[in-house]
Amino acid sequence: MIGSRRYLLEMERSLVLIKPDAVRKNLIGEVIKRFEEDGLRVISLKMLWFSRKEVQMFYKEHEDKPFYDALSNYMSSGPIVALVLGGENVIKRTRELIGATDPSAADKGTIRADFGESITVNSVHGSANRESADTEISFMFSQIEIMDFNSGIYRR
Ligand code: CMP
Repeated sequence: MIGSRRYLLEMERSLVLIKPDAVRKNLIGEVIKRFEEDGLRVISLKMLWFSRKEVQMFYKEHEDKPFYDALSNYMSSGPIVALVLGGENVIKRTRELIGATDPSAADKGTIRADFGESITVNSVHGSANRESADTEISFMFSQIEIMDFNSGIYRR
């Protein structure tokens, strides 16, 4: 039990959002598949539709940026899927699979290069670091919605 708690504390987690453009284009499964095929585990998942105010709370760190208004409009334009992913170096691996913010600058084969339309309409969000991941996960999920990565269901 103590071992299990320690593992949970050390296990890195990331918050991923599948954005309205990817949901509209029926890409939920395709996006999740790319993370699963890399060995990352889905430890929580839900679909929701942000209000403009909720988007602005989620992206508060960008409130002074010129793109904040466009980002708020776009992210509240349709349903999204929120995931918590777990695994070793999950933040770095997730960001590599997602690719650069601007899809036209993203590496070939990344999610944004394959599906993103513009720097705003860029298909997926992934946490930037551990601190952001913790803040974003607690914004989107309650503790009991997140699976215990160390439980038997995640053993292969
Ligand atoms: P995301 O990874 O969700 O984090 C913040 C979002 O703001 C980013 O993806 C983009 O959708 C958007 N964004 C970041 N930089 C810009 C920019 N220069 N112009 C427009 N939108 C941006």
